Amino acid sequence: MDSRAAYGCLLVHHIPTAAASEQYRRIRNNIRIASGKKERLSLVITSPSPGEGKSTSAANLAVSFAQRGDKVLLVDGNVRNPVLNQVFGIKQWPGLSDGLATGIDFDEIVYPTSIEGLAVIPGGSPMPGTADLLDSRVMEELLERAKAKYTVILIDSPAVLDTPDAIALAGRCDGAVLVLRSGKTQQKKAIEAKRLLDFGKVNLLGTVLNRS
Ligand SMILES: Nc1ncnc2c1ncn2[C@@H]1O[C@H](COP(=O)(O)OP(=O)(O)O)[C@@H](O)[C@H]1O
Ligand SMILES: [Mg+2]
Repeated sequence: MDSRAAYGCLLVHHIPTAAASEQYRRIRNNIRIASGKKERLSLVITSPSPGEGKSTSAANLAVSFAQRGDKVLLVDGNVRNPVLNQVFGIKQWPGLSDGLATGIDFDEIVYPTSIEGLAVIPGGSPMPGTADLLDSRVMEELLERAKAKYTVILIDSPAVLDTPDAIALAGRCDGAVLVLRSGKTQQKKAIEAKRLLDFGKVNLLGTVLNRS
């Protein structure tokens, strides 16, 4: 079993009674309240820098939305360094990059998971230049298609200080959640990320203090 498939990654699914699983459910509920309890919700999960817990948080939040009966689509927006295929034990391609670059049909890049109500679009084939397509008309069309079919869409996106991708994606969604790693994220980086999100007019719906 790959280390990413170890159950630590999907705590909410494997140990729903754990204190941390309870915290993910609390964050889920707070996000819903912050969004005005919209029937349909699309969100970008990001952080100032890599390694702060975006993918772990996105995966566990996706499971916790599915547990409350939402029809959830989790999208691996890290086309340069995708990991969600490993977390959920699905293929890496065809996935998002293929959908964006080749126009392959939406249904061919969406994979069911073993968790009821949760489907995943993995990062897709490694292709140079696909990250540029995250801020494109094709991406917008893909999201429109997803919004018609799913009640909650979560996009695990690159770090805010690394690329403009997260802000571009959040502009096409209802908002963003900023993941900070307790004891690691520097305050000045958190402030800079918040400044960039504000400048990009991103609706910041919540902050997750990971590993606290
Ligand atoms: N709350 C947590 N408890 C234990 N390990 C964690 C936690 N959050 C993240 N990790 C681990 O830290 C590493 C980076 O997390 P990841 O979610 O991949 O970060 P990012 O997507 O921001 O780069 C991974 O190996 C992940 O398994
Ligand atoms: Mg990640």
